[in-house]
Amino acid sequence: MAKYKNIVVLTGAGISAESGVATFRDNGGLWEQHRVQDVATPEAFARDPELVQRFYNARRQNVGSVEPNAAHVALANLEQASDTHVTIITQNVDDLHERAGSKNVLHMHGELCKVRCIHCNSVHHWQGDCTQQTKCPKCGAMPALRPHIVWFGEIPFYMDEIEDLLYKCDLFVSVGTSGTVYPAAGFVNAINAYGRAHTAEINLEPSEGISNFAEARHGKAGDLLPVFVEEIIRSGEP
Ligand code: APR
Repeated sequence: MAKYKNIVVLTGAGISAESGVATFRDNGGLWEQHRVQDVATPEAFARDPELVQRFYNARRQNVGSVEPNAAHVALANLEQASDTHVTIITQNVDDLHERAGSKNVLHMHGELCKVRCIHCNSVHHWQGDCTQQTKCPKCGAMPALRPHIVWFGEIPFYMDEIEDLLYKCDLFVSVGTSGTVYPAAGFVNAINAYGRAHTAEINLEPSEGISNFAEARHGKAGDLLPVFVEEIIRSGEP
């Protein structure tokens, strides 16, 4: 696998769809059933924290009951296949990449299985429900805990690290994202400006940013990604 030395894979909700996690913008997606401004903004949490907690408690429960699919497993295999550096930058807040075996995962939009104290800023792994009556395990404040999720209007995590990864990468693959939410939707443009990497999109349908990718494959990630990964691994074989 010497052909590529630094691979960056950007993933979105589509990669977890076949596991049974709802996407956001497809028919029946989460944003058809809930208004973003009611559940996914700092203002929503200030206005009705119990509603926001219930929304994320339900999503945490759902994610706890599903399993990684063939697409997650393919990416874990890619990371383990050689000494090529593979990083997954995910917009997803589920932990399916980690449960499939991926180690190098940056959750730019946060993680469902973590909560954060708004008083002492400590971050805690969280399995069950979190309410306004739950005390911060570190400082004891209450109400204190919020989902460790990047809401609309907040700055995504790991942006400095991501900028560096985009600059260095020689293969950029975007999987299961509609390409509508920035900054992630703009990563491919940054990479094209550096002019060093091959770019590929794998998505059920053409994304908003389709014209910016050198290569595109359309269909289910669980079908296409294992084949794509196998090709990458083979391309580096002598
Ligand atoms: N395989 C591949 N792609 C799929 C599959 C599948 N099985 N099922 C759906 N898709 C595609 C859809 O066609 C769509 O283009 O996945 C994409 C999902 O798009 P969105 O629902 O917009 O999800 P995403 O791009 O991850 O959203 C970005 O928006 O609301 C915010 O914070 C939220 O992280 C999220 C961000």
